[in-house]
Amino acid sequence: MVLELTIEEKKMLKGKQGKATRKAMEIVVALGEIYGAKRLIPVSSVQIAGVSYDNLGEAGLEYLNEMAEDGQTRVLTTLNPAGMDMVEWKKHGISEDFAENQQRVVDAFEKMGVVTTCTCTPYLMGNLPHYGEHIAWAESSAVCFANSVIGAYTNREGGPSALAAALTGVTAEYGFHLDENRVAQVKYDVLADLMSTDEFGLLGQIIGNRTGKQIPYITGIGNATTDELKSFCASVATYGGIAIFHMEKVTPNRTPIPEKTEIVTEEDLNKARAELDDKEANIDFISVGCPHASIKEIAKIVDMLKGKKVTEGKTVWITTAKPTKDLAIKMGYYDQIEKAGAYLVADACCAVAPLKGRFTGLMTDSAKACYYARGKNKFKTEIRTVEECIKEAVS
Ligand code: F3S
Repeated sequence: MVLELTIEEKKMLKGKQGKATRKAMEIVVALGEIYGAKRLIPVSSVQIAGVSYDNLGEAGLEYLNEMAEDGQTRVLTTLNPAGMDMVEWKKHGISEDFAENQQRVVDAFEKMGVVTTCTCTPYLMGNLPHYGEHIAWAESSAVCFANSVIGAYTNREGGPSALAAALTGVTAEYGFHLDENRVAQVKYDVLADLMSTDEFGLLGQIIGNRTGKQIPYITGIGNATTDELKSFCASVATYGGIAIFHMEKVTPNRTPIPEKTEIVTEEDLNKARAELDDKEANIDFISVGCPHASIKEIAKIVDMLKGKKVTEGKTVWITTAKPTKDLAIKMGYYDQIEKAGAYLVADACCAVAPLKGRFTGLMTDSAKACYYARGKNKFKTEIRTVEECIKEAVS
């Protein structure tokens, strides 16, 4: 199959629009050729991941600086969490060295015209595609949310391929940009009542572990909040590499219902919880807001913290996007959280901040956060409801 390019795309490939655009177009074309795409298609927005200096390192930063010499975004482009709150990093225990390097990363993106939102929930922060829109997003939880909950079309981009789409305004038409690759393959009948973000995360863990990248069609949920769905998306993408699912009566895409059926029971949820609970966990870190907390979630936490004080020896992070933090400041939530001894941390999260060695045990409502806490930071974990997390923090 031959990848056909338009005159404009050919010009980009020849370097007529500058060095960075040429390099970016080379990446887009290479991916198109590898995956057998017939053409490139315009995207209306991009979400870039790979922002924390902790993951990127000096080599990654060098690449960004090179692209920033003459690269400019052509579509709305937003940014995943960085390794620290870009303003209040010092009080969260981040070193001067790290802060300086992290700032250099964000500066390079800003130079290219990227909107430096630093959040994994761009859809809550003004990067909200509509049903059927083609986009190029990295960040597995946001990709899953965009494809499934919104009904937009995106592949799971990596950091460099997302940046390439941002600088060219196009992506290769393959994978989840094509309807035939979005059809459900296995049905999951959920026979348990799910009540909270942690339980939706556990369901994501179960289906992710079982499904082997087959697209799930989930029944038995009936109703779910945006916050519960973002928790499910983060988890099913982490444990199963899932980029799209269908949830009967909840998500908007239409698909034939697969015959192959699996059952998820209350017992499966209990087992999944037990897998994430380390018996000998000594909880000294409580983190909620993975994916980044909405203003509604923050308001609820403020209620839970009223008149309470975080116990000495425990650190509490509520992670969110900067615009949400600004709103929380305006609403007085920030003052109440900080007065209780917890931190409202913007731009970062417990998985991408440089936290290794600082804590031993994490309690969270997020199955995805447990995965990274164990794998990257070697923390012991416990997964609980947000209410239980806050209770643990102040008891
Ligand atoms: Fe977002 Fe960090 Fe969780 S990027 S999905 S808060 S691990």
